[in-house]
Order: sequence, then C-alpha cells, then structure tokens
Amino acid sequence: MARRKKIYEGKAKTLYEGPEPGTIVQYFKDDATAFNAEKKDVIEGKGVLNNMLSEYFMTGLTNVGIPNHFMKRLNMREQLVRACEIIPLEVIVRNYAAGSMAKRLGMDEGTQLPRPIVEYCLKNDKLGDPLVTEEHIAAFGWATQQDMDDILSLALRVNDFLAGVMYGVGIKLIDFKIEIGRVYEGDFMRLIVADEISPDSCRLWDIETGQKLDKDVFRRDLGSLTDAYSEVAKRLGVMPKASTPMTKPHLIN
Ligand SMILES: Nc1ncnc2c1ncn2[C@@H]1O[C@H](COP(=O)(O)OP(=O)(O)OP(=O)(O)O)[C@@H](O)[C@H]1O
Ligand SMILES: [Mg+2]
Repeated sequence: MARRKKIYEGKAKTLYEGPEPGTIVQYFKDDATAFNAEKKDVIEGKGVLNNMLSEYFMTGLTNVGIPNHFMKRLNMREQLVRACEIIPLEVIVRNYAAGSMAKRLGMDEGTQLPRPIVEYCLKNDKLGDPLVTEEHIAAFGWATQQDMDDILSLALRVNDFLAGVMYGVGIKLIDFKIEIGRVYEGDFMRLIVADEISPDSCRLWDIETGQKLDKDVFRRDLGSLTDAYSEVAKRLGVMPKASTPMTKPHLIN
C-alpha cells in the first residue's frame, strides 16, 4: 500500500491525509491516557470499539440533521472524515454533576443538574485544558459571538440526541465533550461536530446499577475498560462482528 502522509499524531488517534482534498483518515489507536497524559496504557481493542461507536453516533447525528464530519468507516480502526479547522475549545455538556465540575463546586457526583450546563475549556495540553468563559473566548478571538451561538445550539442538540439514544439502552448520559470545526462551502462557513463521540469522551452510567461504562473505568481503575465499552457497543447493537467462517464461496454483485 502506498505510504500515507501523517498529518498529526494525538493521544488517542492518528490523522492521515485522505484520498481527496478536504478529507482526513482518522486512525483510532488502543492508547488510553488520563489526567493530561500522566496516566497511560494500551488497551487492546479500545480503538476498534471507539471507531465503531463514533461511526454509530455520528451517523445518528446525520440522520437527525446535526452536521458532523463523518463520511464513512474504512475498516475496523479507520474512518474517513471531512477535514475542518478545529475551534480550540472542548465543549462540555453536563446533565449530572461529575468529574471536575463536581470537584470544583463541591457537589456529589451523580447529582442531577437543574438543566444541561455547557462549559468551555481551552484545548491546550500544556495548561491542562483550563476552563474559560465566553468573555475569554470573545476577547482572545478563539470564536466569534455568532460561532458561540451556533456552538451552544449544536452542543444542546447533540445532548438531546445522545441522552435519548443512551436512555433507550438503559444508560444515563452524565456528561460528554465534543469538538467543533469550521468548514467552508463557497463563500459560506459552517460549524460541524468533529473529532469523536465515544465512551472516551462521555460519562455513561448504567441506569439500574450506576455502573460506569466510560473512561472513568480507566481513570479510577474500576476494572476492564474494553468490557465496559463492549457493553455499550453490545447494547447499541454495534458490537464488531466476529468474522464468520465462510462455508462456500459467495458471489458478490
Ligand atoms: N475533522 C477533523 N479535521 C481536522 N482535525 C480534526 C478533525 N477531527 C478531529 N480532529 C483533531 O484530530 C486530533 C485527534 O487526535 P487525538 O484525539 O488523539 O488528539 P489529542 O491527543 O486528544 O489532542 P488534542 O488535545 O489535540 O485533542 C485532535 O487534535 C482533534 O482536534
Ligand atoms: Mg482528543
């Protein structure tokens, strides 16, 4: 196979130049990191699960009219996406207190919030992705006021969709993080959901038992991360199929 040009190697994914201009191949690695990469491990099968799950959620977003970067899955670990200019913010939507917000405000994890709360963190690993306000975002020009209106609306639409899908399979969507990118269409600029949606970027608790089915299993050493992600995939019907042995040749037309 011809060598592809690597564009970026991140903690969880590698980006390659796609076959057409304006496209990117996202390769999902098995690497897991937490606490700004202070904790690291390789978790066999995580990349495959996240690739399948991100495809599932992004396709769902497309089906309900929420624009996103997903084009098609190429294989078990790779998907083709639309290249975009990533806005340097992590957009977090919270339905229940957990993680850094629970700590910051002295709340018990799992406390239901009066309404979804959207937070913004600056994407900057050196600074540990600090929380920023819309004032910072506007003053430093990371996004315009119009962008922020669109980002808020996208984030809340994704929340309604994801919370509903999860509820349908007995999972509570505690919170999640998305990234947003700019794409240009002629003279117009649009914002779309980019990066990934997977148990790496969500907090998911079983409704009945409260069992954690997301990256907190890794962060807090709560057991097998692949078991947790596989459970989510199984409930959603997106478990990677074991290759079934073919008994006789099949004609494909
Ligand atoms: N459609 C897209 N076009 C361009 N870049 C993208 C797109 N989707 C995601 N990205 C970027 O690709 C990278 C994905 O790699 P990964 O998630 O491993 O990064 P990371 O180690 O978490 O670092 P970062 O802090 O940059 O997110 C991220 O930088 C993300 O912003
Ligand atoms: Mg990332």
